[in-house]
Amino acid sequence: MKVGTDQPALFETSIRSLPLLHRGKVRDIYGVDEDKLLIVQTDRLSAFDVILPTPVPGKGRLLTALSSFWFEKLEHIVPNHLTYIAPESVVTEDERGQVTGRAFVVKRLRPLPIEAIVRGYVVGSGWKDYKKTGMICGIPLPAGLEEAGRIPGGALFTPSTKAAQGAHDENIPFAEAQKLLGEPLAAQVRDIALALYTQAADYAITKGIIIADTKFEFGQDQIGRLYLIDEALTPDSSRFWPAERYAPGRNPPSYDKQFVRDWLETQNWNKKAPAPALPPEVLAKTAEKYREALHRLVS
Ligand SMILES: Nc1ncnc2c1ncn2[C@@H]1O[C@H](COP(=O)(O)OP(=O)(O)O)[C@@H](O)[C@H]1O
Ligand SMILES: [Mg+2]
Repeated sequence: MKVGTDQPALFETSIRSLPLLHRGKVRDIYGVDEDKLLIVQTDRLSAFDVILPTPVPGKGRLLTALSSFWFEKLEHIVPNHLTYIAPESVVTEDERGQVTGRAFVVKRLRPLPIEAIVRGYVVGSGWKDYKKTGMICGIPLPAGLEEAGRIPGGALFTPSTKAAQGAHDENIPFAEAQKLLGEPLAAQVRDIALALYTQAADYAITKGIIIADTKFEFGQDQIGRLYLIDEALTPDSSRFWPAERYAPGRNPPSYDKQFVRDWLETQNWNKKAPAPALPPEVLAKTAEKYREALHRLVS
């Protein structure tokens, strides 16, 4: 698959022919009609939870291609929200350049009120939780696990609430997800999320990428059918590690954001917006990482 990264970067869309519903950290979301949305993957990049002022050329297109790849590959496990309507067909002619290769027209569904997080490795908030309690989100684990070690016995489903904007999502025990969704739906979401993660991670490792953990979102249509929505298994929704640099006992470098984080750490910056502008060499190296992730996975 060839995805050009030579066009100018898109920091923010300005599509005036459709109502803007939401600007996320990375995606801009427009209403198409009553039952469809336009999701545009911009080139915005966030680090330490702050949107950086400098976009990464090509990032949105690479992530669009990667999500497409996973949606299709995992479709046999659960249907997804893609409609395959060309995004160019729902905007005006002069707006087409903003959507080509970086947008999806999706079914407008009712998002479930949880984030379906799956963890294959003990890292991040999971590692903090484990050190303190011997458990991750209330699930007991054997003693003596190392930071970034693989979770013995297979991946864990560790849902979180969807926090209002600005607030941080909160991990919840499975019993809480059962209360929010009802028991049959909670079990269905858990089983599907685990199957999606396991199949994707087993595939990615054959291409030299460890998917340490990931976040899925699900939505329902009017008659209660379940769909995978949002994005699928991108470096923005997941922790990707290069397998060749993996060693349990320390947190491996992030596949895509290592250069950005390393450089930001050298700056006199308090990790609050606004962040400093990124120098061209950091941008170029970061863009190269997204290109590499896509090409490794898709080839
Ligand atoms: N098919 C869909 N129907 C309805 N809402 C969706 C669909 N796909 C994704 N969403 C919603 O779109 C929003 C994406 O916004 P957000 O997460 O803030 O963006 P970002 O990931 O760029 O920060 C989420 O709230 C998600 O639930
Ligand atoms: Mg999001």
